Amino acid sequence: MTTIPKRSRVAIIGGGPAGSLLAFLLHLEGIDSVILELRSRAHVLGRVRAGVIEHGSAEILKQAGLGHRLEAEGFVHDGVQVTFAGDMLRIDFKGLTGRHVVVYGQTELQKDLYEGIDAAGIPLIDEVEGIRVDHVESASPSVSFTHHGETRTIECDFVAGCDGVHGVSRDLIPTGMRRSYERTYPFCWVGLLSETPPVSDELIYASHDRGFALCSMRNEHRSRYYVQGPADTTVAEWPDERFWSELTARLPAGTARSLVTGPSIEKIVTPVRSWVGEPMRHGRLFLAGDAAHIVPPTGAKGLNLAVSDVVYLSRALGDFYSTGSTSGLDAYSGTALARVWKAVRFSWWMTTMLHTFPGSGDDFERRLQIAELEYLFESESARRVMAENYVGLPL
Ligand code: FAD
Ligand code: PHB
Repeated sequence: MTTIPKRSRVAIIGGGPAGSLLAFLLHLEGIDSVILELRSRAHVLGRVRAGVIEHGSAEILKQAGLGHRLEAEGFVHDGVQVTFAGDMLRIDFKGLTGRHVVVYGQTELQKDLYEGIDAAGIPLIDEVEGIRVDHVESASPSVSFTHHGETRTIECDFVAGCDGVHGVSRDLIPTGMRRSYERTYPFCWVGLLSETPPVSDELIYASHDRGFALCSMRNEHRSRYYVQGPADTTVAEWPDERFWSELTARLPAGTARSLVTGPSIEKIVTPVRSWVGEPMRHGRLFLAGDAAHIVPPTGAKGLNLAVSDVVYLSRALGDFYSTGSTSGLDAYSGTALARVWKAVRFSWWMTTMLHTFPGSGDDFERRLQIAELEYLFESESARRVMAENYVGLPL
């Protein structure tokens, strides 16, 4: 059983990708930290989420020594397909940018991160309840919580809020000192995982009058598919037959014919929304990942932003402990948000171009959408802009 320290330089709330990668990067800088996670390890390791790792994120993981399985088992994708009105267009990442993405499930990445953490001896305390953070405006904050019925307190120099969309950290910034920006789209995604071979070697983003669809994968035998559904839908409304028939209807005929269907092994409904909270710092509290911002899944950016945030934060903390300089920490929020907003823009652009907007009754919007897709199909410059953003802007 992991010993709970009484003191740690950095207390990290949340053991998802942001929290666990931050702990590992800090360890490489020689900075000790402790991770406090609400759920059990098994729960965190069982979550099925992202699948696309940007070129730069993959490089960070490799440089940190966490990339062995990603390199051996991840799939390098040099492009994606976009379909519209029965036509298929390839966005050639490699040709347009010289870079690629890696398809590697977040579930696998989380496993690699926890293995790295355990090997490094970083304390990961799971099943913590009632987290309470005090004195972030002072030089000696503390975090208190209940663990298996006992109340504990950890004194620290800094608190990293990496507790995702439902966490408590973001509310630690006083209301008068923060601002949030939000867009909720009038639809959601229904996702299905199946033990079937992927329909295509590359991801397919499909625009169709019936709604958006996405064909993704985890490996040669396991596929991940999504269809756009109504905003208030539930998993119960999507029995496998309905899902498969809706997906088939939204793909070009040739692709639909080669689609192998099978029983779902997991199914989710996920909202499509953007949320950004500013600033990402208050005193000695620093927010990272989904705790600070959410993006629609269309651009495949959420996990990758969690990576870039913690890279910036670990560098800033590294600087602070090695030189005493706070300039990196002072710049953190601005540096991270500059990259975040570009990912918010790209995710908004992908979402707006590819989904149908129910009930808008606005033919003007639909005409613009068609013009946008046609332009992408016709212009190499447009495709380069998409490719550059999809593989990831520089860190
Ligand atoms: P999380 O993964 O949410 O981790 C936060 C952790 O904090 C959790 O383990 C949680 O249990 C814990 N926690 C919460 N509250 C507390 C508390 N009070 N105390 C302690 N711990 C707490 N991103 C991509 O980049 N590419 C993709 O292809 C992609 N596809 C996606 C598809 C879907 C369907 C979804 C839903 C998301 C997708 N994402 C994608 C987004 C990506 O999964 C998230 O952005 C990523 O998980 C963010 O990591 P995080 O560590 O910030 O947050
Ligand atoms: C996934 O494989 O889960 C996935 C891929 C691309 C996205 C979103 C999700 O844009």
